[in-house]
Amino acid sequence: SLVDEWSGRHEKETTLKRLLGIEEVHIVAGNSDDSEQAQLLLADEAAKWIFANLKPRMITAVTGGTTIAKIADHLPQSSKIEQLQFVAARGGIGKDVQLQANTIAALFAEKLNGSYKTLYIPDRLSESAYEAMTQEPFVQEMMALYEQMSILVHGIGDATEMARRRSSSSEELKLLKEQQAVSEAFGYYFNARGEVVHRIRTIGVQLEQLEQTPHIVAVAGGAQKAHALDSYFQQAPKQTVLITDEGAADQLIKVH
Ligand code: BG6
Repeated sequence: SLVDEWSGRHEKETTLKRLLGIEEVHIVAGNSDDSEQAQLLLADEAAKWIFANLKPRMITAVTGGTTIAKIADHLPQSSKIEQLQFVAARGGIGKDVQLQANTIAALFAEKLNGSYKTLYIPDRLSESAYEAMTQEPFVQEMMALYEQMSILVHGIGDATEMARRRSSSSEELKLLKEQQAVSEAFGYYFNARGEVVHRIRTIGVQLEQLEQTPHIVAVAGGAQKAHALDSYFQQAPKQTVLITDEGAADQLIKVH
């Protein structure tokens, strides 16, 4: 829009695309850290992108978090696109239900007249439980859906903040510190070079599966996330569409 042009946001989008080496960047006005309006704009922009790109029978995986949780509200109530499927990108119970991937997948499906599959298993598993789980038919079915997903919608968080939110053990916190984890996305922790330094043992989307995923939509705003974004985008898949706000974008351009 004209307003975007006057504000220089288009220019910043071009700059970020080049700096991060990704296909598409959308920047909304404001800073989500302290503006509810910016959070709404972010959710709205993400909803618009998703609705414009969905095609019949597509499988979409979604993660949890406060940012992704807001998107469903902004999707239109529509049955225009047939047989859409939504899946939780990861297991996760014990956290705030409204912010869980399972709940969000169901909300997306409700809005778009699709179906959904949930994954009610703990966010972290022991090694033996993990091994056993992977043998379960419902888990294998989920894994097969991840192989076929057309869109992954995910948030990006600050590593320490996410570890705190997940009430990680002191050993895990120590490990993340030693490994200098900066960002977190879909259960993986990354250092400043974008290398995976830790992973939460749970059933969910595997990093390798992102390579073959046609559309990846990363939604994250707020200046406080600039370092996390800088870390994650060191090695993020090229087909990622970043939807962010001016607060994060300005700071990201500075620190990158
Ligand atoms: C979730 C992702 O969607 O959002 C996490 O699974 C990410 O990997 C988190 O860190 C960020 O949460 P929030 O509440 O800051 O949007």
